[in-house]
Amino acid sequence: MFELQHTDHPIVQRPRITVVGVGYLGATHAVCMAKLGFDVLGVDVDEAKIAELRSGRVPFFEPGLPEQLGEMLATGRLTFTTDLDEAARFGDVHFICVGTPQAEGSDAADLTFVDAAFDALVRRIDRKALLVGKSTVPVGTAERLTRMIAGRSPIGDELELAWNPEFLREGFAVEDTLHPDRLVFGVASEWAAGQLRALYRPLLERGTPLVVTDLATAELVKVAANSFLATKISYINAMAEVCEATGADVNRLAEALAFDDRIGGRFLKPGLGFGGGCLPKDIRAFMHRADELGVGQAVEFLREVDDINTRRRVRTVDLIRESAGGDLRGARVAALGAAFKPNSDDVRDAPALDVARMLYLEGAEVRIYDPEANENAHRAYPDLEFADSMDEALQDADVVALLTEWDEFTDADPEAVGARVGARRIVDGRDALDADAYRAAGWEVRALGRPGRRARVPARS
Ligand code: UDX
Repeated sequence: MFELQHTDHPIVQRPRITVVGVGYLGATHAVCMAKLGFDVLGVDVDEAKIAELRSGRVPFFEPGLPEQLGEMLATGRLTFTTDLDEAARFGDVHFICVGTPQAEGSDAADLTFVDAAFDALVRRIDRKALLVGKSTVPVGTAERLTRMIAGRSPIGDELELAWNPEFLREGFAVEDTLHPDRLVFGVASEWAAGQLRALYRPLLERGTPLVVTDLATAELVKVAANSFLATKISYINAMAEVCEATGADVNRLAEALAFDDRIGGRFLKPGLGFGGGCLPKDIRAFMHRADELGVGQAVEFLREVDDINTRRRVRTVDLIRESAGGDLRGARVAALGAAFKPNSDDVRDAPALDVARMLYLEGAEVRIYDPEANENAHRAYPDLEFADSMDEALQDADVVALLTEWDEFTDADPEAVGARVGARRIVDGRDALDADAYRAAGWEVRALGRPGRRARVPARS
C-alpha cells in the first residue's frame, strides 16, 4: 500500500465546488455536482460559453443535459462566472476540467490549458483547499503540478492536489457521471482522500466501487482504459480485414466471440472504427509519453491499433469507389453521418467526415447529412456540401454511404430510401444495416468485413 500523508485538517462535509473549464466534461460535471446537492460555480475564460450556460443553453449536443442544466440553475445551487478571483474565494474543492487536445504537429498532449488553469488558481487561493485534476493528462503531470503548487501558492502545501479521472461517454454523459462504473482517487494525503469521499458520498453509499491510489496510477487508469477500448475495436477491425480476404462475416465472428464472458461483446463492433475527442488523441499521447519515459516499446502495439483504425477509413472509400464503378470523379455520393458516433454532434477526428473528405478529394460529388453535426462539420470543412435532411442527401445518389449509425439511418425503410436515389447501391461503413432487407429491396450492399454482393449472407438470428 502506498503511503498517505497524515494531517489533522478537518474535512468539509458539504464543500463548495468550482469546476474550471466548462466544456463537455466540465459542464456535465458542474451540473451533476449541483444535482448531488452541492453549491457549484462553473468557471471558464470563454465569455460566450458562460453566457450561454447562464441562460440555460448547452453549447453542444448532449441528450438530457439541457433539462438538467435548467433544473439546476433554477435551484440557485449552480452559477457560472469568468472571474477567477471569485472562483478562488468560492471553492473548497476545485475541479480542473479543461481540454488536453493533441498538440499541433506532434502526438503529445497539449497541456497549455491545464497549466494555465492551475497557475491562475494556485496564485489566487489563500485558504485550505483541494485542487482536483479531471483532465486526461500524461502520467507525471500531477507530480509536476505538485511541485509547481508548492513553489507558487501563497499557502504552500496547504493547497493540495488530487487526480480523479472521468470515464464519461458522449451521449451518456449525465448517466455516466451520476452512475459511474467506478471512482478513482489519486491522492497524496489522508485529508485529500477523505475530502473526496465526502464529496462523492451519495455515489459511494450506493455501492460505487472506489479505487484509492497514488497520483500517477490515477493518471494512468484513464489512458490505460482508453487504450484498451481502442485496442478492442481495432482487434475486431483487424479480423474484418481477414474476413474480407476469405469471404467470412465479421459480424457473426464478433457475435460468436462475445459469448465468451472473458472476451465480452462490448466495444467489439466492427466498422469504420473509432474517432472523437478522446480515444485517438489519448493513445497517441500515451505512446509519446511512454517514449519519453523510455518504455515506448511497451505500448508500441498502439501504433498498429491506430493504423488499423485509419485503414478502415481508406477501405471504406475503396468500397464506395468500387460501388461507383471504379472511379469517383463525378459520382454522386450520399454520405449519411458526420459525427464520430451517433447521439453526438462532435466531429473531432470523426471517421465519417474523414471518409467524406477523401471522397471529395477524389472528385466525388458528396452530399453529407447528419442529424446533429452538420453545423460543426461545415465549420471544419467549409468546402464540403451539406444537406438539410436525409431525403435531400439521398436525392439521385449513385451510391449511399452509411458512415454514422444514427437511428434515423438504420431504421429507414430500404424501399423508401430506394425511391430517392439514382441507383440502389449502398456501402455500410458501420455494419449496422439489415443487409438482407436491403438486398431483398434490390440493393447492392457492400459492408466492411462482410461477404460481397455475390456471396449469400446467412440470416441473422
Ligand atoms: C470514450 C470512452 O468510452 C470514455 O470512457 C472516455 O471517458 C472518453 O472516450 P467517447 O469518446 O464518448 O468515450 O466514445 P465511445 O462511445 O467510447 O466511442 C468511441 C469511438 O469508438 C466511436 O467513434 C465509436 O463509433 C467507436 N466504436 C465504439 C466502435 O467503432 N466500435 C465499438 O464497438 C465501440
